[in-house]
Amino acid sequence: MIKYLVLTGAGISAESGIRTFRDTGGLWEEYPVELVASPEGFAADPKFVWDFYIKRFKQSLEVEPNPGHIALKRLEDALGDKFHLITQNVDGIHRKAGSKRLLEMHGRLDQCYCISCHRQYNMNEIDLAGDVPICTACGSLLRPNIVWFGEVPYYLYEIEEMLKNCEVFMIVGTSGSVYPAAGFVMTAKLFGARTVAINLEKPDNLSFIDEFYQGRAGEILPSFVEKIIGDSNG
Ligand code: APR
Ligand code: ZN
Repeated sequence: MIKYLVLTGAGISAESGIRTFRDTGGLWEEYPVELVASPEGFAADPKFVWDFYIKRFKQSLEVEPNPGHIALKRLEDALGDKFHLITQNVDGIHRKAGSKRLLEMHGRLDQCYCISCHRQYNMNEIDLAGDVPICTACGSLLRPNIVWFGEVPYYLYEIEEMLKNCEVFMIVGTSGSVYPAAGFVMTAKLFGARTVAINLEKPDNLSFIDEFYQGRAGEILPSFVEKIIGDSNG
């Protein structure tokens, strides 16, 4: 049984300087999601999509974990295999913070793969300055290892098993508007978990949340995690 299962979204990286998607000034205001985050958009203009992801990849190299990421790493250290983290984020900051018990369900900005032979590449091993990157094995186009709209996220089977076996399911920094992630809180609740949310605004799936803490993850999580650790030490 997992004591704490946590799902994070773009909001936990906001205090590291990364734009969210749906807040005022969010990414989807500037880039229509169907153009840069869909297989159809990539097929129509692979260069435009690659430029968008190269920009986000380069930014991800510059940003650092904030107290919210660090607090979740601390909770992992304290709870061990009674803790697991799922993120919708592709920025890699949870890995930079040292989180190991981590599932990146929407992929990773630092990886790409061939659309034909599916050979995997790291972004820092390919030429990002030229035209659209090409597979050295078969000559087809490479695409970012990002789960786009209309595609199936990674690790759904593992996630489903954890949602059915957790005492507390906590969502942090997510609008609760994109499925299947937005539906995780319903599954957890159906299987008896207590549900918690830490978010700047009320998430769309608030009706399934037992405890809601409104505010910034970087400000709330550190003391929230210390209390969990204090309580679990008895
Ligand atoms: N602390 C906590 N919450 C915050 C903070 C913060 N510092 N800043 C913003 N938020 C909240 C916002 O109020 C918003 O509800 O984070 C949420 C971010 O919501 P979205 O921008 O919709 O991001 P997310 O929920 O991660 O989107 C889910 O949609 O576009 C796709 O694949 C993409 O993974 C993404 C998915
Ligand atoms: Zn190939």
